[in-house]
Amino acid sequence: MSIEIRHLTHLYDAGTSEEIKALEEINLTIQKGGIFGLVGGIGSGKSTLASLIAGLGKPTGGRITIDGEPPCPGKNVGILFQQPEDLFFEKTLFRDMASGLLHSGLTEGEVNERIFSTLDLVGLDRQLLDRSPFHLNRGTLRLAAFASVLAIQPGVIILDEPTASLDPMTRKKVMEIIERISGDITFIYIAHRLQEVVTISRHLAVLDQGKVAFTGTVSGYLDWALRMDRVEYLPVLNQVMFGLQQLGFDVDPDVILLEDAIDQIRRSLVRT
Ligand SMILES: Nc1ncnc2c1ncn2[C@@H]1O[C@H](COP(=O)(O)OP(=O)(O)O)[C@@H](O)[C@H]1O
Ligand SMILES: [Mg+2]
Repeated sequence: MSIEIRHLTHLYDAGTSEEIKALEEINLTIQKGGIFGLVGGIGSGKSTLASLIAGLGKPTGGRITIDGEPPCPGKNVGILFQQPEDLFFEKTLFRDMASGLLHSGLTEGEVNERIFSTLDLVGLDRQLLDRSPFHLNRGTLRLAAFASVLAIQPGVIILDEPTASLDPMTRKKVMEIIERISGDITFIYIAHRLQEVVTISRHLAVLDQGKVAFTGTVSGYLDWALRMDRVEYLPVLNQVMFGLQQLGFDVDPDVILLEDAIDQIRRSLVRT
């Protein structure tokens, strides 16, 4: 079972002088279970693709299916928008969290139960539910927004820059939760911090001006970026390792973990 994207094209303001081709002839297969990374520069089409996979809006051309079905928001797919906490406006955190479940046909008791259990899952105190979202910090609200999407229990969840503008501690926490629960849920993880994507996902796609520039495994991706001389597509760690190799260090630029990189540099220094 998988997410299939075939011949997907999307235009904004089609037929006007302002027409923008945000996506062109996208073909991707995303296997279910695990974390699939989606990277690319600003304006490369990541958020457009995310919202179409989330079933929000109809593409200009082509199709997307999730296990053979069209995406249906709140049913087979959910999305955590960029800066989701900016959308909180209710009097209490509970009311904001419950808003996504209102039309799901669940009873009041079931809604409460879902919210309690997902708050536990992300490690937030249930006592926060009576507080006003305006009095809570960004990190707490981000986790609460994430819990709200989890509460809908979709099989696929798209995370559009889930760690953007968070402090390093909360960033780490968000990534740990995603890794912990990614067996049952398929995550599509969008980030501009390449290091995050190569650490957390096994497979990924790179968008460049609305087209797929690369899709495959993380190690295939690092090889590709080095081979194509697209150093800007490498995480900073790999750029540093690449630079060291150019300087004559005997290191492998497509390392993924910082510990391995340090180990390689240490060995290289011992050898010289
Ligand atoms: N609502 C919109 N109306 C018109 N153009 C848009 C809209 N949203 C995005 N775009 C344009 O589509 C292209 C892709 O944008 P987007 O999908 O937001 O990229 P990314 O998330 O990778 O930064 C950009 O050129 C952007 O300016
Ligand atoms: Mg975006």
